[in-house]
Amino acid sequence: DKGNYRHFMAKEIHEQPEVVGRTLSHYLDLSAGEVRLPFALPFDPKKLSRVTISACGTAFYAGLIARYWIERHARLAVDIDIASEFRYREAPLAENGLMIVVSQSGETADTLAALRYAKAQGQHILSIVNVETSTIARESDTVALTLAGPEIGVASTKAFTCQLAVFASLAIALGRARGVLSEADEKRLVRELAATPGQMAAALAREAKVEPVARDVARASSVLYLGRGGAYPLALEGALKLKELSYIHAEGYAAGELKHGPIALIDYAMPVIVLAPPDATLEKTVSNLQEVAARGGHLILIGSAAAREAAAAELAGFIELPEIAGAFAPLVYAVPVQLLAYHVAVFMGKDVDQPRNLAKSVTVE
Ligand code: M6R
Repeated sequence: DKGNYRHFMAKEIHEQPEVVGRTLSHYLDLSAGEVRLPFALPFDPKKLSRVTISACGTAFYAGLIARYWIERHARLAVDIDIASEFRYREAPLAENGLMIVVSQSGETADTLAALRYAKAQGQHILSIVNVETSTIARESDTVALTLAGPEIGVASTKAFTCQLAVFASLAIALGRARGVLSEADEKRLVRELAATPGQMAAALAREAKVEPVARDVARASSVLYLGRGGAYPLALEGALKLKELSYIHAEGYAAGELKHGPIALIDYAMPVIVLAPPDATLEKTVSNLQEVAARGGHLILIGSAAAREAAAAELAGFIELPEIAGAFAPLVYAVPVQLLAYHVAVFMGKDVDQPRNLAKSVTVE
């Protein structure tokens, strides 16, 4: 049932404040301001040697974002690879290692094979899945559910932000259990995380600002997405969403890689979408934006008013987000990225819920 929406994807994008809130209340004790995982970890977090993450597509990008959180907040080294590579890499996995697999459907063939490889290597297996009865859930030692509800649109949206919510909770829980985070750190991070559903709602409220930008992007035949830190995987996700929904060629790049090649592509025909969340690297991202501006680039900024002001460059488009504090900005910045891909595809008359050649669940290699 699409409710009042034209497409399942629109409904699922708009459900995010609710389902991310629901997922967070499953992992956080909001009144105490603490993380409270709904399962006991079957290992001693202090003895963990490292974390390996594997997944496909959008679920992989959730893992890439989580790497920043787990390394920073739990001081655990994270190795991450797409499942179709990881399963054949013959990677040696450390003793007392934790393997995290991520899958909306819980049936993705390569992700399941990655899980089985890690299991054979004696890893603890934790899966972040949306379908409790799935094969991946059944074969895991610990199941961390995303409470996104059924996701019908082929493009993953609400499952992705719920995966981020689970990962963020897990990173805080591991950091606390390993003695890396103090009680005060935990409270601050939980407060920031708990604020994200409201901030996502505020981002959704600005949907009308996305439409003119979408009309502009729809004219392009190639698009570059840039971001740093947690916004780098989000740039990859933005490019994937544009490709799968609108069939426009798009690439995501780490902003710092711009000078190492892609800057040669800059001309006004190729929109460059810069994700500039308010973190410690904002200044660096802004200077990359200015490099694009100096070469006559076609700039679209997704950021706060402060980022807009710092950019001090001519922009073809600006999607303004509220000023937010903290580490978990990717949950909020995911919203305009999804809305942009959605509106580009709708504007171009594409089949948003069922893009050509794609299946919701990839159960063959
Ligand atoms: O069910 P899964 O999360 O394992 O699926 C993984 C990918 O196939 C999936 O995220 C795919 O990339 C989506 N179409 C992205 O929107």
